[in-house]
Amino acid sequence: EHPGLVDSFGRVATDLRVSLTDRCNLRCTYCMPAEGLDWMPSEQVLSDDELVRLMRIAVELLGVTDIRLTGGEPLLRPGLEQIVERITALEPRPRVSMTTNGIGLAKRAPGLVAAGLDRINVSLDTIDRERFAELTRRDRLPHVLAGLAAARDAGLSPVKINSVLMRGYNEHEAVPLLRFCLEEGYHLRFIEQMPLDAQHGWNRRDMITAEEILAMLGEAFTLSPFPAPRGGAPAERWLVDGGPGDVGVIASVTRPFCSACERTRLTADGAVRSCLFSNDETDLRSLVRAGARDEEVADAWRDTMWRKLAGHEINEAGFAQPIRPMSAIGG
Ligand code: GTP
Ligand code: 5AD
Ligand code: SF4
Repeated sequence: EHPGLVDSFGRVATDLRVSLTDRCNLRCTYCMPAEGLDWMPSEQVLSDDELVRLMRIAVELLGVTDIRLTGGEPLLRPGLEQIVERITALEPRPRVSMTTNGIGLAKRAPGLVAAGLDRINVSLDTIDRERFAELTRRDRLPHVLAGLAAARDAGLSPVKINSVLMRGYNEHEAVPLLRFCLEEGYHLRFIEQMPLDAQHGWNRRDMITAEEILAMLGEAFTLSPFPAPRGGAPAERWLVDGGPGDVGVIASVTRPFCSACERTRLTADGAVRSCLFSNDETDLRSLVRAGARDEEVADAWRDTMWRKLAGHEINEAGFAQPIRPMSAIGG
C-alpha cells in the first residue's frame, strides 16, 4: 500500500495548494463582481492551529513536499508570516511558495523571506495603469509593481508573473508584458482563462488560446523549446530569442495537463478537493473539530484523493462549472 496521496489512475499528489482566505482586495472582472462575494463566516475558516496541523499531517503522513499558499488574496490572512514560519519548520521541510496579487508585498517581502518563504508568483494582467484599474476595479498598479520589485530585491527567485489575456481587454498586451518581464527579470506565464468565475460568464470564444498567444509572441520574438523536462508543471515553457529569458503558457483548456497532475487542495474552510473542477469535497474541519486523530484525518484525505477524476471535463459536452468559484478554491 502506498502511504501517500495516490489516485485510482496512479498519480501521486505531492503538491498541496492551500487557500488561506476567500477574501480579496481587488475585484478582477473575470473573477468576482464589484460588490465582492458572500465571504466565508470567520468561524468556518480554519484557525492557524488547525491549518498548521493539517499541513503537518500532509507533510509527515501523506508525503506532501510542496505547499503553495493561495487565496483569495493570501496577504490578507492575519498572521501570514507566522504561518509561513510554522510550515517551514515542519520535517521534512516542505518548499513553500505563494500566489498573490502583490498588493502589500512592497512592505512585507523581506519579512516573508525571513519567515522562510521560498518562491512567489504574482498575478498581473496588464502594465497599463488605466486598464489595470478597469480590469481589477482598483487603481493599484503602482503598488503591484513595487511589490514585484521588493520580492526580487528580497531574494525570492524566480519571481513569476501570471497573466490572463482576455479578448477585447488586454489581448494586445502579450508582447509588452513579455518585454517588461524580460527587462525586469520576472518569469512570465500566460494562462488560458478557465470557467471558474463567480459570475459564470466564461465562454470559449472569448478565451485567448495558447496557440493565439504563441502566434502573437512569434511576431516579436523567436521562441524555442525550453531545454528541461516539464514534469507535473502546468506551464509549457519556451526560451525567448535563444535565452536566458523564457516564457510559459498554461493551456489548461486547449492542452490539458491533468494526466500529470500532482496537486491536492485545501480550502480556507477546511475542505479537501482532489481537483479544481471537482465538487467532491471532504470536510476535514468537522473531523478536526470533532477530535479526530492524525491517522483518521490522513485516511479521509487519502480517500478523497483516491476518487480523483482523470481530468477536468471543460471540453466535454454537458460540462458544469464547479460550485465554488476560483477565489474560494485557491488558484
Ligand atoms: P509553479 O509552476 O510551481 O510556480 O506554480 P503553479 O503554476 O502551479 O502555480 P500558480 O499558483 O502560479 O498557478 C498559475 C495558474 O496555473 C493558476 O492560476 C491556474 O490557472 C493554473 N493552475 C494551477 N493549478 C492548476 C490545476 O491544478 N489545474 C489547472 N487546470 N490549472 C491550474
Ligand atoms: N482562469 C484562469 N486563471 C484564473 N485566475 C483567476 N481566475 C482565473 C480563471 N478563471 C488566475 C489569476 C491569478 C491566479 C491565481 O489565477 O489571474 O493569476
Ligand atoms: Fe489536476 Fe484537476 Fe487541474 Fe486537471 S484540472 S490539472 S486534474 S487539478
